[in-house]
Amino acid sequence: MTDTRTIRVHVNGKAFRGEVETRLTLVDFLRHELQLTGTHVGCEHGVCGACTVLVDGASARACLMLAVQCDGAEVSTVESLASGAGLNALQQAFRDCHGLQCGFCTPGMLMTLTEFLRDNPDPGEAQVRDVLSGNLCRCTGYQGIVDAALAAAKRMREVRL
Ligand code: FES
Ligand code: FES
Repeated sequence: MTDTRTIRVHVNGKAFRGEVETRLTLVDFLRHELQLTGTHVGCEHGVCGACTVLVDGASARACLMLAVQCDGAEVSTVESLASGAGLNALQQAFRDCHGLQCGFCTPGMLMTLTEFLRDNPDPGEAQVRDVLSGNLCRCTGYQGIVDAALAAAKRMREVRL
């Protein structure tokens, strides 16, 4: 028999209330129930970081969480970053600095860095490399991603002045 539970969750500011299987992972809930396919699934073991989202403002591996654990929470996915057709500063920096190739790791990179730059507005390169050590990229060699994070931090500081 399928075990289900009713959850209430806000995803990218929109309210969801519905029945989900208790075994449903957060990443499958986002991709298959809400059709938010920007969040990617790589290893499903918490290793690659492709599934990283923010839950109540803190980065989390959506493959290691169940949807029912997000009952009452605010979840933000990569779809929350752009405003309308415009990229946000971090997304634009990825584009400008060639921070992506195939793009599979990119949603997780962006969400990890969104939390990081919120809490560390003026990071050094070593700090950026340290925070990115939990997100695997097979394509870029990381240099473009690091450059993008530092460029975005600079841009965001300038906007705040
Ligand atoms: S898919 Fe979640 S960490 Fe790899
Ligand atoms: S851009 Fe391809 S895995 Fe990172």
